[in-house]
Amino acid sequence: MMEQVNLGLVGGGTVGGGVWQALQRNGDLMAARLGLRLNVTRMAVRDPRRTRGFTVPASVLTGDWSEVVHDPKVQIVVELMGGVTTAREVVRAALKLGKPVVTANKALLSAHGPELFALAAKHQTNLYYEAAVAGGIPIIKALRESFAGNRITRIAGIVNGTCNYILTRMKLEGAEFSDVLADAQRLGYAEAEPSLDVDGHDAAHKIGILASLAHGFWVRPETIHTEGIRHISKLDIQFAAQLGYTIKLLGIIQPIATPGSSQPKTKKKTAGDGQNPAIQVSVYPALVPNTHVLASVNHAFNAVAVRGDTVGDTLFYGRGAGQDPTASSILGDLADAALDLRAGNHHRVPPFVSHNGQGKVAPMDSISSRFYVRLDVSDRPGVFARIATVLAGAKIGISSIIQPEGHTGETVPVILMLDAASNLSVRKALAIIGKLPVVKSSPVVLRVENFD
Ligand code: NAP
Ligand code: HSE
Repeated sequence: MMEQVNLGLVGGGTVGGGVWQALQRNGDLMAARLGLRLNVTRMAVRDPRRTRGFTVPASVLTGDWSEVVHDPKVQIVVELMGGVTTAREVVRAALKLGKPVVTANKALLSAHGPELFALAAKHQTNLYYEAAVAGGIPIIKALRESFAGNRITRIAGIVNGTCNYILTRMKLEGAEFSDVLADAQRLGYAEAEPSLDVDGHDAAHKIGILASLAHGFWVRPETIHTEGIRHISKLDIQFAAQLGYTIKLLGIIQPIATPGSSQPKTKKKTAGDGQNPAIQVSVYPALVPNTHVLASVNHAFNAVAVRGDTVGDTLFYGRGAGQDPTASSILGDLADAALDLRAGNHHRVPPFVSHNGQGKVAPMDSISSRFYVRLDVSDRPGVFARIATVLAGAKIGISSIIQPEGHTGETVPVILMLDAASNLSVRKALAIIGKLPVVKSSPVVLRVENFD
């Protein structure tokens, strides 16, 4: 008889249902590959009587998560309920029993990762979370294991499927934000609370996890500069397209120059020279040149570009949200967890190793980039001169000014493409420009990423 490993699922929604169905479909294949069979013994849901798109025997289903966690037959607990309150209790209870936990819950890890990792170590078990970042893309394994011999000099990624789906359809179809968000919810991409997606928090949770793994200190979510996509209009998407760019919600992680230190451009400056540059860890919508591969990542696909000092440039691409891709990552973690269980070695790859006591996140105001600015201005002579005077006073160069034709009325849009400048100086200059009598609404400001 083949060895069997018993799983307890807490959550049978989009992801939990995907895991259940994928195990029905590919359980024999996994058993052949692993030499052990994964068997869902219990599944907790909020409402066991609800009709689902798949059938689970009544003996397996329960409405009480603690029955699953405390069932002596359950060897691995899979937390797929989401949220940070009850989910934290579930994970803590399982770890305290010495049971390995597999989770897709990036919000939970972002908020309580260090506590849960310490608890896993204390109880000689492990926590696996490949599905928490970028859906079906194996980026956690890549950073923790495959790139162990690299200093990571940049990560730039599209890590929220919902936002990418919305921005793609707004660009390709001229669709309205709210209609497309409803579709993303129907397709199972969005979080139960979709403001987590559209306000950038979900991407920040994921980028924080990647930054922590890449730079060896746990990045707290409140230190991550986070902007969402609510304010992105069809107008900006169209103007960006005319300029040769596509607007994407990007996560950026990179060491940056701090005052008094030189920009860490080369291997020599970032690696082993005693400096410990602060790390930019940020999420914001940005103009990506259409010539860059990230501009062509569409719909719910995600992509993470990782640059290491040894490997050079790499790119991870795949479906970043939805039932099957996320289930794929959970199954991969279950394979690892079951094999570790059989080997009696839960600490072969610990969930997170802190190795940079000096690590810190750079304040956003210290970070420089190019900017796209759209102003709604009075249609009369002298307007450009007033705006240019403020920018010149702030020593911010203008690389182009466009007043697109075909806009008539009391106000017209003006698009400024600014040379690289610090966030602080642009913020201050735009606060002054926004108060000029000729400027009729708050400036729309987006960064322009050239990935130099
Ligand atoms: P979901 O569809 O809302 O499913 C949540 C499941 O948890 C449901 O089955 C629900 O029961 C159950 N549940 C809620 N509260 C419970 C409680 N107190 N006790 C027992 N069960 C409870 O959410 P999802 O999209 O599968 O997401 C689950 C997790 O995966 C989240 O952390 C999410 O961030 C993460 N994730 C999602 C995706 C994605 O594309 N959807 C991708 C990666 C990661 P009922 O079915 O009875 O309501
Ligand atoms: N809501 C998330 C997204 C699910 O849209 O990317 C995948 O983590």
